[in-house]
Amino acid sequence: MSQDFDAVKISEHVYWVGAIDWDIRDFHGYSTLRGSTYNAYLIVADDVILIDTVKRPFKDELLARVASVVDPKKVRYIISNHSEPDHSSSLPEVIDYVKPEKVFASKLGLKDLEGYYGKDGIDTVSDAQSMQLGGVNLTFLETKMIHWPDSMMTYLADDKLLFSQDGFGMHLATSERFADEIPEATRDEENAKYFANILLPYKQLIVKLLDRVKALGIDIQIIAPDHGPIYRKDLDKPIDQYYKWCAQKPTKKAVITFDTMWGSTEIMARAIEGGLESEGIDVIVLPLKSSERSIVVTEVLEAGALLVGSPTLNNGIFPTVADVLTYMRGLKPRNLVGSAFGSYGWSGEGARQVNDYLTQMKIDLVGDPLNLSFRPDSDGIEQCRQLGVLTGRKLKEVIQSGS
Ligand code: FEO
Repeated sequence: MSQDFDAVKISEHVYWVGAIDWDIRDFHGYSTLRGSTYNAYLIVADDVILIDTVKRPFKDELLARVASVVDPKKVRYIISNHSEPDHSSSLPEVIDYVKPEKVFASKLGLKDLEGYYGKDGIDTVSDAQSMQLGGVNLTFLETKMIHWPDSMMTYLADDKLLFSQDGFGMHLATSERFADEIPEATRDEENAKYFANILLPYKQLIVKLLDRVKALGIDIQIIAPDHGPIYRKDLDKPIDQYYKWCAQKPTKKAVITFDTMWGSTEIMARAIEGGLESEGIDVIVLPLKSSERSIVVTEVLEAGALLVGSPTLNNGIFPTVADVLTYMRGLKPRNLVGSAFGSYGWSGEGARQVNDYLTQMKIDLVGDPLNLSFRPDSDGIEQCRQLGVLTGRKLKEVIQSGS
């Protein structure tokens, strides 16, 4: 086994023993432009406990980091907080290698691990269950749907440390292990991107979880997620960011995203942009020829308006526009006003199908889709500008009403 990988001590009893994936650029459809990490942790007390594992190709890196602290065969317990394969796909081989006395997961985690790997013999733990294990005190908190039904977090009372699995994670490969060692702008950007692309559909559950942890009065000094850096300072900041993103309070920011075949829908987008700007709205335009879907949803996270344009191709919506709308619909952004628009030659289904998506997404529509044939003339351009003006006014009304 390679010994090139060292563990990093992060608290009295805990070492980071995860893996750095400098290579990954697509995480189930989310562009991870700065790579990622799969964090696993080792508690070294009377016994040795491994918290989560890593993606299968990184199993040797995990075991090498463990070996830099202790013989991996001394791992007596493994706790699987989350069964998604980025954290569990090396688990069967790690179990076979270290032969732990017990492996713990939530009840749904057990089901997932059986389903994925046919693994039996896993012990289950319940929500709010506390136990003394290997000389430390652990409490398990079920966090269903953050990010999967099986998910749970584990609190290590001895070190005031929360193993938060996907919660408070970000896709960021770095040689630094702590958030305070990373430039704030990079952290904020990747944190928002991760929230928008992974956690946004579960915002109500996240608020409940944050409120619950507050009510329990658990003293947390370190948050150790399964992706990206570890928080050991200023924990209020990521917590407050989560509250803000869960609320999705509309701001004076509009996102226009579109694709275009022969430039007409682009002309419409730019005229709408002008109308919005004339109302004092900050506008970001994301042409889908150059803007990847996870960037679009990240920009929408703190926006108050979303305007989407599609030409009509073969009696339907343009494929790139369908892609981004299908992705965004699943992520359930809320509290947005918006409009559909597009250019067509003969039939005009593109903008109408965009409108259907926006309706399903519960977007407060300014009016019917703006559908213009062929190339917009000066009257058409003025209609686009007016659509921007009306959307901007509606957004300001919504903000003023405090809804
Ligand atoms: Fe990082 Fe939901 O897995």
